[in-house]
Amino acid sequence: MHENLVLDPERIPRHVAIIMDGNGRWAKQRNLPRIMGHKAGTESLKNIVKIAGELKLEVLTLYAFSTENWKRPSLEVQGLMTLLKSYLKSELQKMLDNTVSLRCIGEIEMLPTDVQKVLSEVMQETARNAEDKSGLILNLALSYGGRSEIVRAARIMAEKCVSGQFDPKDFSEKLLAAHLYTAGLPDPDLLIRTGGESRLSNFLLWQLSYAELYITETMWPDFNTERFFEALKEFQSRERRFGQTSQQLQAE
Ligand code: IPE
Ligand code: IPE
Ligand code: MG
Repeated sequence: MHENLVLDPERIPRHVAIIMDGNGRWAKQRNLPRIMGHKAGTESLKNIVKIAGELKLEVLTLYAFSTENWKRPSLEVQGLMTLLKSYLKSELQKMLDNTVSLRCIGEIEMLPTDVQKVLSEVMQETARNAEDKSGLILNLALSYGGRSEIVRAARIMAEKCVSGQFDPKDFSEKLLAAHLYTAGLPDPDLLIRTGGESRLSNFLLWQLSYAELYITETMWPDFNTERFFEALKEFQSRERRFGQTSQQLQAE
């Protein structure tokens, strides 16, 4: 099926993060209400989760709702929350069958209580899948903002200093990373943004510091298996130097 896009099994990224953008424009191009774009977007989401599991990715982090998205018209926000809830309910069995474990990052307490309830049920039910190290961690960013995540980590660390758990001298990159929502997860190797915008929109500001960036004009509802393979293929063609020279890497 993807004979011209065969991936190197040795270089599958451990963690892929995706900014799922372009649902609204996809709908507008078809004279549909924006919410229909979001609905079509959930179909893409289901497919990409399935492929990510088949490719044995460790983590797939999806930006589903930002702290800034609360500023959207309340009907759109409500529609998104309803879609999220029905997505979680309808996918639970599939997650259990495919050893997917659900995690989430963001200000979960800001979400409507019915959504929070379904979310924690699905996380609880799928938690045992996390013991199977070969299973995918599906990490949903909900009411997520990168700056507020860092501020929150700093606050928790300051509180721990005040209570004597550790000292400011102990502060390190590792310690800060351990206080982010993403504690315990590897940093993303690849960031994909659909919808063509060249910005981070407050996503994983700390964690993306050395991710490969891949921006595609494809709108999220059109981001199919083939487009995903194209992104992964492009990732595999990049040389990740982490500050070193090409020569140094080749000598290793
Ligand atoms: C991304 O699609 C989904 C969310 C932000 C929830 P958009 O709704 O931002 O789509 P565009 O950018 O308006 O096309
Ligand atoms: C980023 O998309 C957030 C999500 C995809 C959830 P936006 O559409 O909200 O980003 P901006 O506002 O164009 O930067
Ligand atoms: Mg957008």
